[in-house]
Amino acid sequence: MTILVTGATGTVGRHIVSQLAEAGHSVRALTRDPGRASFPEGVEVVAGDLSVTDTLQAAFDGVTAVHLINFGGDDYAPLPNGQEIVDLARKAGVRRVTVLGGWDESTLEPALRAGDLPWTYIRPTEFMSNSLKWADAVRTEGAVHEPFGDATTALVHEADIAAVAATALVEDGHGGKIYGLTGPERLTTRDKVRLIGEALGREIPFVELTPEQAKERMAAEGTPQEMIDFLLDVFGNVPVEANIVNSVVFDVTGRAPRTFAQWAAENADSFR
Ligand SMILES: NC(=O)c1ccc[n+]([C@@H]2O[C@H](COP(=O)([O-])OP(=O)(O)OC[C@H]3O[C@@H](n4cnc5c(N)ncnc54)[C@H](OP(=O)(O)O)[C@@H]3O)[C@@H](O)[C@H]2O)c1
Repeated sequence: MTILVTGATGTVGRHIVSQLAEAGHSVRALTRDPGRASFPEGVEVVAGDLSVTDTLQAAFDGVTAVHLINFGGDDYAPLPNGQEIVDLARKAGVRRVTVLGGWDESTLEPALRAGDLPWTYIRPTEFMSNSLKWADAVRTEGAVHEPFGDATTALVHEADIAAVAATALVEDGHGGKIYGLTGPERLTTRDKVRLIGEALGREIPFVELTPEQAKERMAAEGTPQEMIDFLLDVFGNVPVEANIVNSVVFDVTGRAPRTFAQWAAENADSFR
């Protein structure tokens, strides 16, 4: 029973790998660059590029469950070869699939929908780890400059996203489900900054920018225009549905979702 984890060095994937390995499962981690990656002892590492089907044969050999990301490349381009990946999984005898979804579907989701593999779609709201984008500013300026201080999200801890995926990879009953994941509370941008300050033991001033000022600031920091437009659109019009607190993390894992205060305490060193 080998479980293949793709995106294994990523924000969520590395937690899936460590949680499955800790629970005693046989885990195979896919990365484009095994030389750069480090995994817990006992984890098998395999080289492959998810967007290049020919590189994936060894990764799927003997696999019974697989966690998939739906993009390939550092520009997050949607996977063009979803059907080929599904074919590889079927040939290998895979019986459980999880997919971490974002804003856009790739060719993977329609291929899974059209097939007969049991798969679970994991669609979190905002990751708590997105707040690491403020780490440089907190360290160097001691303050956070952002627009939309009162915008709220029900942000979710990446280890909880991973716990839901890890459960769906080893337990029956999750195939065909779409799991929209939230954390335990809705927080404003100002709340997040305040809680990081509490973890550091000092107040971090929050300086509210107009959208125009935010655009200029992000452009000066080198943020790609496409990302600037995306962030201003999302935080200017936070999708309400995705941010109504739900109990899916608890229902699937049996554990209460981690709070942002806990995330901030775990990650305080990044802001020091
Ligand atoms: N951030 C959020 O708030 C949020 C909210 C909801 C959904 N999401 C979704 O969550 C997903 C993960 O986002 P993230 O920003 O945290 O990314 P991430 O997991 O940190 O992305 C990097 C990972 O992708 C792997 N990867 C990239 N291209 C690859 C390829 N061609 N072949 C194999 N592996 C490849 C990398 O592996 P190697 O470099 O080791 O090869 C690395 O493990 C995205 O689909 C995003 O849309 C994010």
